[in-house]
Amino acid sequence: MPNRIYFGDNLPILRSLPAGCVDLIYIDPPFNSGKQQARTQIRTVRDPQGDRTGFQGSTYRTETLATRQYADWFEDYESFIRPRLEEAYRLLAPHGSLYFHIDYREVHYCKIWLDALFGRDCFLNEIIWAYDYGGKPKNRWPAKHDNILFYVKDPQHYTFNVADIDREPYMAPGLVGPEKAARGKLPTDTWWYTIVGTNSKERNGYPTQKPLGVLNRIVRASSNPGDVVMDFFAGSGTLGESCLQLGRQFWLVDNNPQALETMARRFAHVPDIEWIGFSPTP
Ligand SMILES: C[S@@+](CC[C@H](N)C(=O)[O-])C[C@H]1O[C@@H](n2cnc3c(N)ncnc32)[C@H](O)[C@@H]1O
Repeated sequence: MPNRIYFGDNLPILRSLPAGCVDLIYIDPPFNSGKQQARTQIRTVRDPQGDRTGFQGSTYRTETLATRQYADWFEDYESFIRPRLEEAYRLLAPHGSLYFHIDYREVHYCKIWLDALFGRDCFLNEIIWAYDYGGKPKNRWPAKHDNILFYVKDPQHYTFNVADIDREPYMAPGLVGPEKAARGKLPTDTWWYTIVGTNSKERNGYPTQKPLGVLNRIVRASSNPGDVVMDFFAGSGTLGESCLQLGRQFWLVDNNPQALETMARRFAHVPDIEWIGFSPTP
């Protein structure tokens, strides 16, 4: 079966697929786009008393159109994400897993929605992906992590390949024997991993690209070779790259033409991809 890349809104695409057809889902949705949108909803109005000077010396004032920014965002985000999470649950095979990548401001709401959908006993971990990069505010602790919620459909039967997980150096290798130190330790639920830096070889130009190492760890642990692995907020297709490296089949969806163009460049060398709603050749 070929890999698939769909162009379009993920909700109708998810609804068109049969139940139980996916072994692993990783998603990294746009977690604060509503908030940013609200912030940019302003209007510039000509006003002789205005505080901004524009074309030919005219003065303007800026009006904010969205005043209830946080509340508007919250309502929008819930109605956006919940139907998509319901579809993710429906599509997962009985032994399947979901990894939901989100930021610290939204994770608590999402956890409640996911608990209601999967059941609290199906929540296995909150993974903290920690990095240390970029500017640091001086008026609070710099927020330098994302959260990844890990759910399984059946806590008695799910894929978890502990022997295949990449290992990490011990923090105090002197405290363990040389054999153990050489083998490294099993990662915990806190993953230190650098972001894809602007000068990194991995960088593909897509603004929210996630590190391949983080996705490889998820794919190795929670799927088997040949499994169907899906990301319906695919962006630059990092999950697809991971599946290619690890011998899994991928299904990716994105509704942004720039994401599809990035994936077309990234996967130009891969013959067995079915492109749906998009032509990868210019
Ligand atoms: C945070 S980015 C994903 C980045 C990706 N993990 C990577 O490594 O490149 C989220 C993506 O979701 C896509 N998206 C947002 N709403 C969508 C929708 N309704 N249907 C499909 N894709 C959507 C955006 O276009 C964006 O590319």
